[in-house]
Amino acid sequence: MGKALEGVRILDFTHVQSGPTCTQLLAWFGADVIKIERAGAGDVTRDQLRDIPGVDSLYFTMLNSNKRSITLDTKNPEGKRVLEQMIEQADVLVENFAPGALDRMGFTWEHIHKLNPKMIVASVKGFGPGPYEDCKVYENVAQCVGGSASTTGFDDGPPMVTGAQIGDSGTGLHLALGIVTALYQRTMTGRGQRVLTAMQDGVLNLCRVKLRDQQRLDRNGVMEEYPQYPNSEFGEAVPRAGNASGGGQPGWILKCKGWETDPNAYIYFITQAPVWGSICKVIGKPEWVEHPDYATPKARLPRLKQIFATIEHWTETKTKFEVMAILNEYHIPCGPILSMKEIAEEPSLRETGTIVEVDHPERGKYLTVGNPIKLSDSPTHVERSPLLGEHTDEVLAEFGFNRQQVTALREVGAI
Ligand code: COA
Repeated sequence: MGKALEGVRILDFTHVQSGPTCTQLLAWFGADVIKIERAGAGDVTRDQLRDIPGVDSLYFTMLNSNKRSITLDTKNPEGKRVLEQMIEQADVLVENFAPGALDRMGFTWEHIHKLNPKMIVASVKGFGPGPYEDCKVYENVAQCVGGSASTTGFDDGPPMVTGAQIGDSGTGLHLALGIVTALYQRTMTGRGQRVLTAMQDGVLNLCRVKLRDQQRLDRNGVMEEYPQYPNSEFGEAVPRAGNASGGGQPGWILKCKGWETDPNAYIYFITQAPVWGSICKVIGKPEWVEHPDYATPKARLPRLKQIFATIEHWTETKTKFEVMAILNEYHIPCGPILSMKEIAEEPSLRETGTIVEVDHPERGKYLTVGNPIKLSDSPTHVERSPLLGEHTDEVLAEFGFNRQQVTALREVGAI
């Protein structure tokens, strides 16, 4: 069976997390992703947070599956010529260098476009054009400047970053969509284009509902589904909402049996309006169904804290999985707080290829997250990440360099 992006050649100058997540996705869809790295060192994550001495880290191996690796010094005059020849024959160049680095190498958009007018040049940067465009940015910086940190955490605590890598992997996802869209447009116009995703923009896109709330706050001064509502403790900006649901279906994290010793013995419980009657029945409060203080969503809003405390008396008597099983019988939306250990061991995630075990020649077997996007006509087979420069000779041959040329390039340190 063919793959969706078969025949698309990608020159992958990405490193760390944001760019590599993007090109890994494209590789899973069948693109030929050629990771171009500096000889001797390569992507800095190869040796970051190493768990086995001298072996590529999980950080690297989990973000660079299905790619090939070549080493090339793009600041060496011969290396530059190699890159020019590769640009002429490739479809996409992806990079997430610090601002200006590609230009300083001599590979401006104008130069690349002249070499190959069909080339798509895709970049992740921390910020878009404006006062901060020259700044370097990492994950948590993006979460802070994109509106996530100020709206995450509890209102009596400091701003908080999330464990989900929305700045890096989130931006990588955005960039991947930009690239395939540009490829699609190219089939009509024959022209390449630049694709830019700023991490601040990517995070803000994921925090869209919080900008919605800012405007509701500006207009009304309160937001009834926020935990601050009963005491009207609102300032000028969207506050941190703890574990409250973002939409109009109030929810909270509640303790389950064993919470005293297990940090993840909790469940997310949503008091969805259509199943309110069932909730009252399950938790042993049938009188709440008709009671004017509880019967309607509006009546419940100022009492959510007390309502969740009452529900928690019930959830505390059962494990999170027992609570889940009972609530699902009544179609009450809920979700256990799963630890990474539980997720890693979950058989259904293995069956769908969402968690995959991969074999690596130096580290042996390891787990990685497979492709979360399932295409029925383009299945994903996750293959291990490449060793540094593993495919240099093979790739250069495909781009038209003969053995003597490759030997000469090696002698001058270009590869
Ligand atoms: N051959 C020769 N030189 C190479 C090379 C190669 N194959 N690959 C990289 N380099 C050079 C670059 O040209 C650059 O040189 P310059 O500074 O002289 O122009 C240098 O290596 C360092 O690259 P840079 O991207 O600036 O790395 P950094 O460690 O200084 O910064 C980041 C790292 C992540 C902060 C920065 O790349 C960045 O802000 N990227 C955009 C946002 C982003 O993606 N952040 C999230 C990362 S998960």
